[in-house]
Amino acid sequence: MASLKSSPAWKALEAHREKTAGLHMRDLFAGDEDRFEAMSVGLGGLFLDYSKNRASAETYALLVDLAREADVEGWRGRLAAGEEINATEGRPALHMALRDPGGPGDNVEIIAARKAMERICRDIRDANMTGATGKPFEAVVHIGAGGSHLGPAMVVGALEAYRDGPDIHFVCNVDGAQIAQILDGLVPETTLFIIASKSFTTEETLTNARTARSWMTESLGYDAATHFIAVTANAGAAKDFGIGEDSVIALSEGVAGRFSVWSGVGLVAALAVGWENFAALLSGAHDMDRHFLGAPLDSNMPVILGLIGIWNIDFLGAEALAVLPYDEGLALLPNYLRQLEMESNGKSIGRDGTVLEAGGAPIVFGEPGTVGQHAFYQAIHQGRRLIASDFIVPLRTHHPIGGGDHHQRLLANAFAQSEALMKGRDNGGQPPHKAFAGNRPSNTILMDRVDPFTLGQLIALYEHKVFVQAVIWGINPFDQWGVELGKELAAAILPEVLGRAASGDHDSSTRGLIARARKAEQEKQP
Ligand code: F6P
Repeated sequence: MASLKSSPAWKALEAHREKTAGLHMRDLFAGDEDRFEAMSVGLGGLFLDYSKNRASAETYALLVDLAREADVEGWRGRLAAGEEINATEGRPALHMALRDPGGPGDNVEIIAARKAMERICRDIRDANMTGATGKPFEAVVHIGAGGSHLGPAMVVGALEAYRDGPDIHFVCNVDGAQIAQILDGLVPETTLFIIASKSFTTEETLTNARTARSWMTESLGYDAATHFIAVTANAGAAKDFGIGEDSVIALSEGVAGRFSVWSGVGLVAALAVGWENFAALLSGAHDMDRHFLGAPLDSNMPVILGLIGIWNIDFLGAEALAVLPYDEGLALLPNYLRQLEMESNGKSIGRDGTVLEAGGAPIVFGEPGTVGQHAFYQAIHQGRRLIASDFIVPLRTHHPIGGGDHHQRLLANAFAQSEALMKGRDNGGQPPHKAFAGNRPSNTILMDRVDPFTLGQLIALYEHKVFVQAVIWGINPFDQWGVELGKELAAAILPEVLGRAASGDHDSSTRGLIARARKAEQEKQP
């Protein structure tokens, strides 16, 4: 690939950065009454205000040149056409097909899986599919890891107001404390387990699945395979685990875990809120897909969000992105987006095998707004490191509790924070620690309210943002080879920790740690 940093568009942006280094956003706003109108874009229930960035109309024009030069338009076409753009795994990236209503020429395998998922969802909710003793399922335990966990967990939390299905629990940690606590409160006869694992080899997930299976067998006195559903691309392994064919929802190899909430991985969310609401989530995402594929680059919401990110990361040096939802239901959104951004673009080798010259995912972190305000906003306002922020703010609440003003207070806090970050405040004779430099970049994404459709739009917005950035940086965002080494070493170390193998060829630190773990285990024995 031609050098990114020596491309004309990149060089123009570098020159522009030098020229505008002294610019303060306060002046940009003061000099342009229409800045908010000019630097915002809406789509259905979603509205992106990107005016509070250290960027002028010229900056955006140059960024769009960069997108054009990187052939974002061509790549989005290749993505949509199902080309094998995930080259290191020889796969396409089919997340858009998962929410496409379907039609001639569409992915037959994906459509069949969606139908199976809908059938299972309706059967369980209507009690046509029951436990071994004929009782309806009252609790569902979703066992998964990473993308097979975070998506549905985030969606179930976000759509809390729409829930009318069974009780939902999530198990993702191999730490037995988690599953032990959950199983403790459950009735086996009315409990259903969903084992979500694309590979069906993830150690944490399989360990938890086996524990669930033994708990069920021991409690009921017989093997209740009908209490298990698998969502996987490895049907053979699910069968070996003892899950019947009718209870397996196929996952496509062409969908990476962090892009899979739209597939059977989302079954637990569909069970929680009903198929119609889940279908609305898919429609919202499909709406964003159409916008992404069709809108010109300079008014394309995911493209704009991606380009601002590149400006902040590569030209202004913002190494971190704070995701700040002003909504309790979106509490898991920062974690979800952390995986999406950091597992997709947290890479230093490009798709052509060479070392990246620029970019790579920012460090993503965050909390619901007013919780974070009392914890880490200090560093965003006055810290030495530049942190970019995304405020995500629903205008309407599902919880107008007691006729009170909670929501208005929430809104006031959100808007105040982004204003403070932008404007800052001179110390005006006060001691220096009271000064706020301001000029700290943020985007604000308004949602009419957190409903299934708008949530689908929001998630797809970030998926495409990550893709746009990957294209420009020259990254394949759909593989995740960086997780492999740790997995391999854990498999090698486990027998040593269990005392079934002699110490392997480790460094003195790892050897010492394993030895201490063995000693603690032996001392525990009577
Ligand atoms: O270890 C990382 C990862 O491969 C993620 O990409 C994925 O979402 C997660 O593990 C779970 O994988 P699986 O669905 O195969 O169990």
